[in-house]
Amino acid sequence: MIVTGQPEEFRELLGRARAEGAVVGLHPTMGALHPGHLANIRQAAHDCDLAAVTIFVNPLQFGPGEDFEKYPRTLDQDLAAADEAGAGVVLCPPPEAMFSQVPLTTVAVRGLSGRWEGASRPGHFDGVATIVTKLFALAGECRAYFGEKDFQQLAVVRRLVADLSLPVEVVACPTVREPDGLALSSRNRYLGQDERRAAPGIYWALLAGKRSIEEDGLRDGHEVVRTMVRACEREPLVDLEYAAVVRPDDLEPLDEVVLPARLLIAGRVGRARLIDNVAVGGEGT
Ligand code: PAF
Repeated sequence: MIVTGQPEEFRELLGRARAEGAVVGLHPTMGALHPGHLANIRQAAHDCDLAAVTIFVNPLQFGPGEDFEKYPRTLDQDLAAADEAGAGVVLCPPPEAMFSQVPLTTVAVRGLSGRWEGASRPGHFDGVATIVTKLFALAGECRAYFGEKDFQQLAVVRRLVADLSLPVEVVACPTVREPDGLALSSRNRYLGQDERRAAPGIYWALLAGKRSIEEDGLRDGHEVVRTMVRACEREPLVDLEYAAVVRPDDLEPLDEVVLPARLLIAGRVGRARLIDNVAVGGEGT
């Protein structure tokens, strides 16, 4: 596995591999790799000739008072785990190598970025869209692997690739869960013991919503949301931010549920802010 901190070297390595006929698979991350990331890297290594991983805690996607400084940074373990999972090239640039000057350019996927996570975290998806566009520019033609766990991010990335005609095929990777249903996330390590026990409550609320549609035949979107809210209230340590039933492509809330749909949820458990989602009546996890 080749490790570089230099974006231009990363560009050259991937370009050279492509010139020799390789299909490149890219998995962008912010590090603190957990088994969910590793499954995505394995999938990229399986599907493609070269699996490239980026590890960069992107300051552009954190708002004031968010956890940018405290975000877990575990580079040595990450590199060992990425190697083990089949990565061929890793870019882990210091901030000054990524941005030699303060960027004046922002990529914004309007509309899609403003709701749900975007409403709770203003500017977050502009930061994501900007760094992902930059990583795509460095990587060149590739298949890009993104977890379904961050479903709105996946929708934003798909839309920017389509709008800007980027030579990237976006591949959605299934959410990896703990045995009790908690979706794997680098932020789970913020959970204390009682909070960890309570955290799967947000997944169980999603399942309650899913059952109400798929098994009970509920089609009133507001009733489905109320079902999820009630399920969440059973777990006092979960402080629900939003629950929603949406159209999967543009995340428009549904008054009347039309399938396939997606259920979204976000909440705080202690100092961890957790998000999750499930597919209803269609493909996806
Ligand atoms: O999902 C993440 O870890 C980040 O949002 C991403 C896509 C690497 C951009 O910084």
